[in-house]
Amino acid sequence: MENLLEKVVSLCKRRGFIFPGSDIYGGLANSWDYGPLGTELKNNIAQLWWKRFVHQRDDMVGIDAAIIMNPKVWEASEHVASFTDPLIECKVCHTRIRADQEEEKNKHESLHKNIKIEWTEPKQFNLMFPIRLGATEDSGSTSYLRGEIAQAMFVNFKNILDSTRIKLPFGIASQGKAFRNEITPGNFIFRTREFNLMEFEYFIRESDWENQFEYWRKEMWNWIEDLGLDKNLVHEREHSAEDRAHYSKKTIDLEFDFPFGRKELYGLAYRTNFDLKNHMEKSGQDMTYTDPETGEKYIPHVIEPTFGLDRSILVVLLSAYHEDDKRVVLKLNPKLAPFKAAVFPLLANKPQLVEKARQILKDLKSKNLNIAWDDRGNIGKRYYSQDEIGTPHCITVDFQTLEDDTVTIRDRDTAKQERLPILQLLSRLVF
Ligand code: GAP
Repeated sequence: MENLLEKVVSLCKRRGFIFPGSDIYGGLANSWDYGPLGTELKNNIAQLWWKRFVHQRDDMVGIDAAIIMNPKVWEASEHVASFTDPLIECKVCHTRIRADQEEEKNKHESLHKNIKIEWTEPKQFNLMFPIRLGATEDSGSTSYLRGEIAQAMFVNFKNILDSTRIKLPFGIASQGKAFRNEITPGNFIFRTREFNLMEFEYFIRESDWENQFEYWRKEMWNWIEDLGLDKNLVHEREHSAEDRAHYSKKTIDLEFDFPFGRKELYGLAYRTNFDLKNHMEKSGQDMTYTDPETGEKYIPHVIEPTFGLDRSILVVLLSAYHEDDKRVVLKLNPKLAPFKAAVFPLLANKPQLVEKARQILKDLKSKNLNIAWDDRGNIGKRYYSQDEIGTPHCITVDFQTLEDDTVTIRDRDTAKQERLPILQLLSRLVF
């Protein structure tokens, strides 16, 4: 669809999914705030992920760790030394871009039409955000906002083993913010300097890494199906040795055909035992695992599937956006929709209808469903308003409801209506 990204950005602001950050001060470049509907969508994706990868399995446990960690963590993980992107600077106007982004380079060169651009030699730019800890400038120490959420899972490996008695193979899952001083953020919520991640470290025996890598590759494709994405728009790309992060021995990206090109959506990496080994050396703490059957001791290896939450939200919105000459519809997977249904009294000025509709609203909400209410304008406008935010069903209370306790229920995608007893509503709405 032409201008799909612009349409989604505009819908997001208009209907309260995503606002420009610090909007009343003219915004802050590449910072975004989730509004009421965006927050629901974000939470629904995060919860679906947590249910699938943590609750529905017996080999995964979760943690929720501090964002600010001891700076020694980032030295041991080699983020301080090696978490870098190559940076080049235009010698004419001093714009800085990533040396490995050809498109950006070409775009910039086309801005200086009649001048031959020269770039500086690439230098490595560290993406970690330093912060000062402590009350005064000189008494505190420097740490970093976490550049990835993974380190807390390595640092807590021993705590988890000791407190849960879980056996290998097992995973530690986490969700939360990561921070990177990106050289070229942009494309709405695709690349920002603070972003939400969902990932797990899956601890294995070294000899098992190829099997496990393959297993998690398939699981990531199953997740893509759960989100309701078109699999034809998702592609695997294996990183070359130069491309790979400093800790990885094999990495595959799952890329998505975004309106601005084919780009990384998720990643799957074989991190070997790089992190646990480094933390063991630098902290002096034992990070070995003892096989309960054989007594064998070893430092586990790790497979890491990683899922950007903001990129998940972006691909879900891009995939769900539909329009025809009559309406805009977000065809969201009902599990992800901010509202599971909307309830309307046919006429707002008939107290009996309003009272009955309010009762239905209350009953459905008491079942932990997020339900919208609308009594403004005519029914047609209310339908279109809910279509635009992806509400799967609209329930209307009319005069017949007062006689036989039935309502009309309208389907978002087909726009078809049917009559249903109120008692059957819940079974339609629980997913
Ligand atoms: N622990 C591994 C790790 O953090 P990564 O490939 O650097 O791996 C993981 O990042 C995921 O985070 C990516 O696949 C992408 O979905 C998302 N991501 C990375 N940088 C981002 C940014 N600047 N803005 C939004 N999402 C980002």
